[in-house]
Amino acid sequence: MSNLEVLSIAELEAAAMEKMDKMTREYYNSGSDREITLRDNLAAFDRYRLRPRVLKDVSRIDTSTQLWGKKISFPLCIAPAAMAKLAHPSGEVGISRAAANAGVAVGLSSFSTSSMEDVVAQGAGAIDYAIQLYVFQNRKTSEVLVRRAERAGFKAVFLTVDTPYLGRRINEVRNRFKLPPHLQLLNFENPGDVAVYSENETKAHGGDKGKPPAAGAGVDSILPQGNVNDASLNWETDIQWLRSITKLEIWVKGILTAEDTLLAVQHGVDGIIISNHGGRQLDGVTSTLDALPECVAAAAGRIPVHIDGGIRRGTDIFKALALGADCCWVGRIPLWGLAYDGQAGVELALKLLYEEFKLCMSLAGCKSVKEISRDHLIRVKTDGT
Ligand code: FNR
Repeated sequence: MSNLEVLSIAELEAAAMEKMDKMTREYYNSGSDREITLRDNLAAFDRYRLRPRVLKDVSRIDTSTQLWGKKISFPLCIAPAAMAKLAHPSGEVGISRAAANAGVAVGLSSFSTSSMEDVVAQGAGAIDYAIQLYVFQNRKTSEVLVRRAERAGFKAVFLTVDTPYLGRRINEVRNRFKLPPHLQLLNFENPGDVAVYSENETKAHGGDKGKPPAAGAGVDSILPQGNVNDASLNWETDIQWLRSITKLEIWVKGILTAEDTLLAVQHGVDGIIISNHGGRQLDGVTSTLDALPECVAAAAGRIPVHIDGGIRRGTDIFKALALGADCCWVGRIPLWGLAYDGQAGVELALKLLYEEFKLCMSLAGCKSVKEISRDHLIRVKTDGT
């Protein structure tokens, strides 16, 4: 299938499926347990219809917005997703180049298969980057990662807070998900420091210092005793801890309630991302779009509120903004783009979303993103959720 034939993200997804091996396809696409949340993230967007305004002179449309003091071409950025080289050898570097060409920001996973320096070098100056952070039981490893990101020129830390333990993703167990031996997690110096393995796995690998971790149980695998992350992470001490080790903006990724939004404000975080990890953590939690309004109300304009999960069309971006989000992020779409056609596939994906969003703005009668409001939506009843 040539690029010309892929005319929507749904078609891109279908085309990408043919290019990936079973382990990668299921690792990227699956959610946890019964995948109720995974499905509901998408379905939630169909519970809203648009209320367009007409005769608004839409001959000139400005889709741009601001993030970290810089203009982004439209309110859609690239969410951190682990191990992009499973999709294509260019991996996170390919994604970064595509994002730089499209003028949108990038969140880079702690568990990326390209080094953070290589990723930032692709778009330095043109676009901004956030480093996603898991806080490990060995805090020093996380601290080293954050300090390295600060030196590399990242703008923000995205502290992922929905993952004290990994969600149950059945495919990963069944497929014995592993990072293939030719790929490495290049943001870590010492595999002995990295809790990529369960304790048992670490011992099996003999604390092989000096080399980045190679094959082993994947980060997202269900590890029998695998307490990868520090489950003691808490509001009382840990935002302050992060603040004490970095000057970067601190964003919390994985908020779904007004209560936690208020705590984020109280603890001085710079922004939040309404996220359920793409339906990969606790199954049965609310869709992110349904969680958004209460979080926006609680934030009351004091900090930016972003969202990810289930965004597949330009109209989805519009709906999230109408419900008060300042910006949207996509996790799987760039991976599909990469699997389909490397950097060009990611560029295609971003172009499709940009054009759909711009058309939606025009046909709904909005000249700028600031004009997108709750009045542009109506909530409808639909079955099947
Ligand atoms: C993710 N996500 C994720 N989040 C995070 O904070 N750190 C990570 O390493 C990863 N890794 C990861 C791998 C894969 C394969 C996927 C699909 C997702 C979650 C990601 O940042 C984002 O929250 C969701 O992907 C958003 O949902 P959509 O856009 O995929 O529907």
